[in-house]
Amino acid sequence: MKMTFKTILIGGLAVFFAVVATAVFAPTLTWNPEQTTIAHEYTADQMAGRELFYSNGCNYCHTQYVREEDTAMGAVSNGGNYVFDSPMILGSERTGPDLSYVGRKRSEEWEIQHLKSPRDVSPLSIMPNFNFLSDDQLKSIASYLFALGDRVAQERMIRPPDVYEGVLNPQDYPIVQPSSSGDPQGWSMWEADNLQNGKETYVKYCLTCHGCSGNGLGSYGGTLIVTPANFKQEPFKSMPDEEWMWHVSEGIPGTVMPTWKLSLSEEERWNVVRYIQRIYAQPVMHDPDEGDPSGAYANLTNPLPASTEILDEGKQIFTRECLVCHGDAGTGHGPYRDIIQPGPPDFSDGSYGTLDNPVYTDSDYFWRISEGVPWTAMPAWKIHYDEEARWKLVHYVRGLFTQTEKIPEMADPGNEVAQIYYDQRMPETASYDRGQTIFVEQCAHCHGLAGDGQGWDGLYLNPVPANFHDMLGSSLTPADEGTYFAKLTFGIHNSAMPSWGEWLPERDRWDTIKYVTDSFMMGKPVTESVYNNGAISSEFLLASSDVYLSEGHTIIAENGPPLYAQYCATCHGDTGAGDGPGNQDNASEGPAPFPQDMSEAYIYWRTWDGVPDSLMYPFKWLLNDQQVWEITTYMTQTLLAGGQ
Ligand code: HEC
Ligand code: HEC
Ligand code: HEC
Ligand code: HEC
Ligand code: HEC
Repeated sequence: MKMTFKTILIGGLAVFFAVVATAVFAPTLTWNPEQTTIAHEYTADQMAGRELFYSNGCNYCHTQYVREEDTAMGAVSNGGNYVFDSPMILGSERTGPDLSYVGRKRSEEWEIQHLKSPRDVSPLSIMPNFNFLSDDQLKSIASYLFALGDRVAQERMIRPPDVYEGVLNPQDYPIVQPSSSGDPQGWSMWEADNLQNGKETYVKYCLTCHGCSGNGLGSYGGTLIVTPANFKQEPFKSMPDEEWMWHVSEGIPGTVMPTWKLSLSEEERWNVVRYIQRIYAQPVMHDPDEGDPSGAYANLTNPLPASTEILDEGKQIFTRECLVCHGDAGTGHGPYRDIIQPGPPDFSDGSYGTLDNPVYTDSDYFWRISEGVPWTAMPAWKIHYDEEARWKLVHYVRGLFTQTEKIPEMADPGNEVAQIYYDQRMPETASYDRGQTIFVEQCAHCHGLAGDGQGWDGLYLNPVPANFHDMLGSSLTPADEGTYFAKLTFGIHNSAMPSWGEWLPERDRWDTIKYVTDSFMMGKPVTESVYNNGAISSEFLLASSDVYLSEGHTIIAENGPPLYAQYCATCHGDTGAGDGPGNQDNASEGPAPFPQDMSEAYIYWRTWDGVPDSLMYPFKWLLNDQQVWEITTYMTQTLLAGGQ
């Protein structure tokens, strides 16, 4: 046949329709899979939820199918699961977890709270807020989500399967109430209850995901899409033994939570469950046993010298593992201080003795670090660190924090490691504003809000934190930036200055350097009051302590003066005259004296939101509502009213 245009066209169309017929229509017409137990008709409410699910683009991040290769997500999907879904929209991107079996995984309150504000329940979530939806709409979405999954499996999701039904921890532990002194309920009771065994299992197998404070943000857990359970949350306070045992034994479908019955004995599982209950979920306050190291821990002395190198290595481990609780200055003010009970100790409180008369010995420190402290969240570090590493930690904690041990003189604060990064230059993109946030959260408690080395946590340290004003630099060269970057990254030898490379990403380190050099070393000029007759941002116009109190909050008047002294006096001075010690050696002048007629709303706003482009921080980064009100009322009622 001759290849005319017409034959090509007709031939092409014929092929096209044949393909469409076999690939599209034939499957659609002949597709008649057998309905599975997962498929079911939607109720009107669920249907409304389904529509909201698609109209709000949930399917752009969540799929609804499980493939062969998706291990641990539940049964592989079958066409028969979807017979009531029309149109079928399965999604193709898994920015969030697959939702095929999400039904009954969680309570309605959880789902609604999560939709309104995902980060309340899943701290690192990138899921957007859907708080613009009405309560009814959110309920519909939740009821649609409940419909996802096997009807039979749904039952299984909320009820433990028969083997776990009604099981109770075989050891009937008495709930130990806080012991009065003299009652030896520390180690003995702790060990008799197998809680030390539970702690060891926890540190070995659960810590990386669930974290040392039990909040699900362990070093690995924090990187997961579905963050591991936060044992501090409500449901765990009253979860029955059978559910603990069931979840720990079988794992959680659709998540990386392992099936522990494969690697832990039943006894070990019970012990770890009891440990989690006692320490995180339903904490029992208990006087930790002061005790004395015995057996293998008695009468030891540190085999390593307290050299600069050893201290540096100790600091690196400390920064990575201990800082979250103990705080980088050892005062117990780490980010997790409020979520564990009892909180970490304050190494500066003098109870550890002095250089000449140490109360705590090498044995004590080594024992505590190796085995943890009974009835507390302090982990047993022998699981992860060998003896040498633990002895390095002993040197670091003793030498820098309790100062019951001599450390080498600071030979050269210039720090030779600086050479490694000497050629590094601040990137153009370094951000002053981000640096300010990080400085307030991470550095100010040592270096002071005014960068003068007078932070509230760091003053007892030896050496004391650097005063950046001493480095005032018209002479600040680009090479200095590299040097500061290096010091920040590696920390400063023989000092408590943390090795931030272990903790802050590179970008954050540069941002802080930018902030520190621009505002303290170069001296950011701030002179004039910004008062401007008290014009207030509209959002804060109605702010008042009366309204705050009427909402059921409290303001404790006595808290005002110490809070002002800790956070404000360094710049504004004790009387508000702007002559705080943090300003005096600064090339720039400190803040102007406070105008006398500032209103409550104005002070609250400025303190909460800060003054843009000045050293006045948004204190919302550091303080809570109540504290800012306590400072505000102290200022209006006493400081500005002429009192002291
Ligand atoms: C930008 C992507 C994105 C969008 C859009 C999105 N999510 Fe998510 N979703 C996530 C991520 C990431 C997670 C995992 C972290 C978490 O739990 O929040 C998640 C978690 C969830 C979970 C918990 C699943 C589990 O197994 O833990 C549910 C339920 C959920 N999303 C429902 C929805 C619904 C309903 C919508 C639409 C109203 C929606 N998501 C829209 C990203 C998204
Ligand atoms: C690889 C990370 C990982 C490890 C290791 C891990 N978990 Fe989990 N765990 C998870 C995840 C993820 C969840 C599910 C969170 C969710 O569904 O919201 C979870 C949930 C849980 C739950 C809560 C179940 C519920 O009711 O929601 C318990 C209890 C639990 N884990 C105990 C343990 C114990 C005990 C260990 C150590 C023996 C352990 N986990 C180790 C990741 C892990
Ligand atoms: C989960 C939070 C947490 C982490 C992480 C942590 N600790 Fe602790 N630490 C505590 C608590 C809580 C105590 C006990 C407080 C008490 O005795 O009341 C403690 C006690 C101690 C003690 C004994 C103090 C005393 O007075 O008996 C030492 C020493 C110690 N920790 C060192 C370390 C070291 C070193 C690391 C890192 C390798 C570390 N801790 C990690 C919470 C933690
Ligand atoms: C635990 C308290 C502590 C914290 C937190 C801390 N520092 Fe330091 N910092 C110190 C000490 C101590 C020194 C050493 C002082 C000396 O050299 O005499 C120091 C020194 C420095 C130096 C070097 C100064 C010089 O002499 O060249 C820089 C730069 C610095 N810190 C920046 C920071 C930044 C930025 C942060 C926050 C990310 C921070 N520091 C957090 C205690 C701390
Ligand atoms: C690091 C130094 C610094 C610290 C710390 C600081 N401020 Fe300020 N503050 C400033 C500067 C600079 C200004 C803006 C310029 C000015 O008012 O002179 C300012 C402005 C203010 C203003 C507005 C005054 C006006 O004239 O409009 C208020 C109110 C205020 N600060 C309250 C506080 C309170 C309360 C605290 C403690 C929680 C505090 N500041 C801590 C530096 C600081």
